[in-house]
Amino acid sequence: MPAHEANKVVTLEHPSGATAKISLFGATVISWIVKDTERLFVSKKAILDGTKAIRGGIPLVFPIFGTKSHIPLPQHGFARNSYWDYLGILTDNDEVAVRFALKDNQLTKEQRQSWPHSFRLVYTVTLTANTLKTILTVKNEDSDTLEFNTLLHTYFRVKDIANVSVEGLNSYTFTDKVTGGTTDVENRDKVTIAGEVDRVYQDVKDHLIVNVGDQEKLTIDKTTMKDTVVWNPWIEKAKGMGDFDDNEYHEMICVEVGSVAKWVRLESGQTWTGGQTISIV
Ligand code: BG6
Repeated sequence: MPAHEANKVVTLEHPSGATAKISLFGATVISWIVKDTERLFVSKKAILDGTKAIRGGIPLVFPIFGTKSHIPLPQHGFARNSYWDYLGILTDNDEVAVRFALKDNQLTKEQRQSWPHSFRLVYTVTLTANTLKTILTVKNEDSDTLEFNTLLHTYFRVKDIANVSVEGLNSYTFTDKVTGGTTDVENRDKVTIAGEVDRVYQDVKDHLIVNVGDQEKLTIDKTTMKDTVVWNPWIEKAKGMGDFDDNEYHEMICVEVGSVAKWVRLESGQTWTGGQTISIV
């Protein structure tokens, strides 16, 4: 990718006034504005020159979640750190959509050595008056079975984390990364944040509600994605992150749908599709 392409951003504009911006770097959605209000959080310290995954918006995690001792890829894989191909905008009735693609031959030699598989990803971002849909298609172009994890690492902008909660997780088992990977079962209807939170809720239902404060709600409807991660770094972790301001933990919550607790297995020649629709209620 030539240097001048590094900051290339595609803008979607809906007749209602809603807009979305997507960087070719990682096919990362970096802005979603509805009714003149930005709904996604991007850190003021985010690095946007293509040298690091973007701290905010919707980074796309693929093919690993976190790190895996037997796969020498960086945390959360290569999709969020790769330049995707722009496939063009489609306008159809009430929606405007854009598609991006990433193939194994666009990876660095080192990345291909770490994850030696032939694949094609297509990522479609669709905007309507009050929804944002992000759908990933994975095609296994290898002769062997492919195993991967994927996750839409959505950072929501909130006014004050003290007034934020997530509904739809009650009774689901979660792995708690803050306590070193212990498991427990959620017993709250509304999951609130009052400290560092880093939980992988497993096999949860497809409809979630994020109360972002001031009586405002977003809903997330996921398809095929099985799990949901809730993350807020809180004070100490925030201080340790160079691309995140010390106080920004007040202004964001990550609610991330994905298939991460178990590998997704995809047979040779097969295609897998999963994603989310986020709606302003
Ligand atoms: C979350 C993980 O999905 O991403 C956390 O559960 C991690 O453990 C967070 O800290 C941010 O990761 P990164 O690589 O973007 O700093």
